[in-house]
Amino acid sequence: MKQQLEAIQKQALDKLTQISEIRELEDLKVAYLGKKGELTRILKGMGALTAEERPIIGQMANEVRTALEESIANTRARLVREERNKRLKDEVIDVTLPGKIRAIGKKHPLTLVLDELKDIFLGMGYEIAEGPEIELDYNNFEALNIPKNHPARDTQDTFYISENVVLRTHTSPVQIRHMQNNKPPIRIICPGRVYRSDAVDATHSPVFHQVEGLVVDKGVTMGDLIGTLQAFAKAIFGKDTRIRLRPHHFPFTEPSAEVDVSCWGCGGTGCRICKGEGWIEILGAGMVHPNVLRECNIDPEIYSGFAFGMGVERITMGKFGIDDMRLLFENDVRFLKQF
Ligand code: DAH
Repeated sequence: MKQQLEAIQKQALDKLTQISEIRELEDLKVAYLGKKGELTRILKGMGALTAEERPIIGQMANEVRTALEESIANTRARLVREERNKRLKDEVIDVTLPGKIRAIGKKHPLTLVLDELKDIFLGMGYEIAEGPEIELDYNNFEALNIPKNHPARDTQDTFYISENVVLRTHTSPVQIRHMQNNKPPIRIICPGRVYRSDAVDATHSPVFHQVEGLVVDKGVTMGDLIGTLQAFAKAIFGKDTRIRLRPHHFPFTEPSAEVDVSCWGCGGTGCRICKGEGWIEILGAGMVHPNVLRECNIDPEIYSGFAFGMGVERITMGKFGIDDMRLLFENDVRFLKQF
């Protein structure tokens, strides 16, 4: 029996050195120390021993048990340590690795210019008004002194949705909406998208942007309009910029003018950009027609006003030296990245 005990101890300790997982350790513990384990099985044979042998073997069996328990505990500690070391190694973070650079989006050049236009006019005390892109024929034309069959309708190749509903061809209908819902003094700009049935080329797009301006108060004059546009031109194109007004006709203003700025390419001496003219047209303007004021229940005997409308694409192309309008709508990242 003594030899059996020694054999069991040796066998168990040998196996323990080979173990590499906690689960195996649990199995081994059950196999030797469990109720049906090796050690227990031997101890059950103690009944056959003599009275002298029994305490000796009993003590020896206890020593074997203690030795096994101790070794199992040590092995468990070893396994836990090994596992932790392995995890630390697997989860190690290389803080010297370069970070992933995420591309940051940029504002579209049209947005940059629209932001700048808004800043300039907000700085002069204007408010921003907005209106819908799907508009009543009444607001887009009729209330602006352009009745049905008026020749001026031909120049604005209109997308009709129905007889009385259009895609707005300019931002001027926002003037009507604002005057019908607000009393003077009025000082607004309306930035927005407009639509015309134009074929796409380097200078035309069926969708483009305008900024409308409207000021209505007592005693507003053409001088106020010119001063405002002069200040605006210097703010957007630089302090040496000059403007000139050429007589023109718009149904909703009287008198009306087309407004040029001195060329942003040559400053006025003539170059390829201004086709040798020295001037570039950027907007239409004039004194609000009495018929328009009356249509909005504003008495033209008491109030007067000026209005202007400009194309944002033209200004953007001028500011950034873009020579083809299509670039503004194609959204090619190689182009957009440059702003
Ligand atoms: N609505 C005109 C257009 O789209 C531009 C314009 C001209 C607006 C004169 C105005 C104005 O407010 O007074 O071509």
